Amino acid sequence: MSIETEKQFEGMKAIGQIVANCLELMKSSAQPGMRTEELDLVGAKFLEEYGANSAPIKMYNFPGSTCISVEHEGVHGVPGPQVLKEGDLINIDVSAELNGFFADTGGSFVLGQGCSEKQNLCLATRRALKLALKYVSHGKPINLMGKEIEKFAHKQGLSVIENLGGHGVGNSLHEEPEFIANFFVKKDNRIFKENSVVAIEPIISTGARILVDKGDGWTLHHPHFFTAQFEHTVMVTKGRPFIFTKPTIKAS
Ligand code: CO
Ligand code: CO
Repeated sequence: MSIETEKQFEGMKAIGQIVANCLELMKSSAQPGMRTEELDLVGAKFLEEYGANSAPIKMYNFPGSTCISVEHEGVHGVPGPQVLKEGDLINIDVSAELNGFFADTGGSFVLGQGCSEKQNLCLATRRALKLALKYVSHGKPINLMGKEIEKFAHKQGLSVIENLGGHGVGNSLHEEPEFIANFFVKKDNRIFKENSVVAIEPIISTGARILVDKGDGWTLHHPHFFTAQFEHTVMVTKGRPFIFTKPTIKAS
């Protein structure tokens, strides 16, 4: 969407804060021994409390309020009976709608003490999002951001997932501009436009370039490599983007 009115800006701020705080609450609620469906319920209750609707359910009839991906599952993991354990790599993606406005956020973390490979992946991917946002500015080429993320990942000995990327968001969960690659796409001549709302989400791996359906029709995984994702919904400005999905609560 392109933000043209105060009402749209306030609407995006409201849903952005809800999904961001939902993600923080879910991160701090994750415990070894917990089933991912229980963690999803924490998120579902939070969204309900604020009158927000889960976007994956609303848009895609997804079998869960949030996407929870564990270990080799990269993204779009289905909450279920799987039990979390110490050292698991977990990705939570929260997207929701309130009053017709959609926001999308996500993050990866290691539950308790995890191996350095997973910790470093999460740290690098978080830094990749921060870096990416420096290139999200009015008039800047979309593929320059992708180029910089890719360069950064490769420098860390990591790979970029090529079949997933960022996207326009706001009036819907996924809208124009479609597929904002986290790598350099030469033929992509689009630019970021002032006031447009985009979800920026580097998805970085210890070696995978493509994630494939695990067999449930939703979960995208790689059998050998780990993958992490961090995502913010932002409004493009002439300077640094305005981040809608900054939490106001902090995960313990
Ligand atoms: Co998302
Ligand atoms: Co997204």
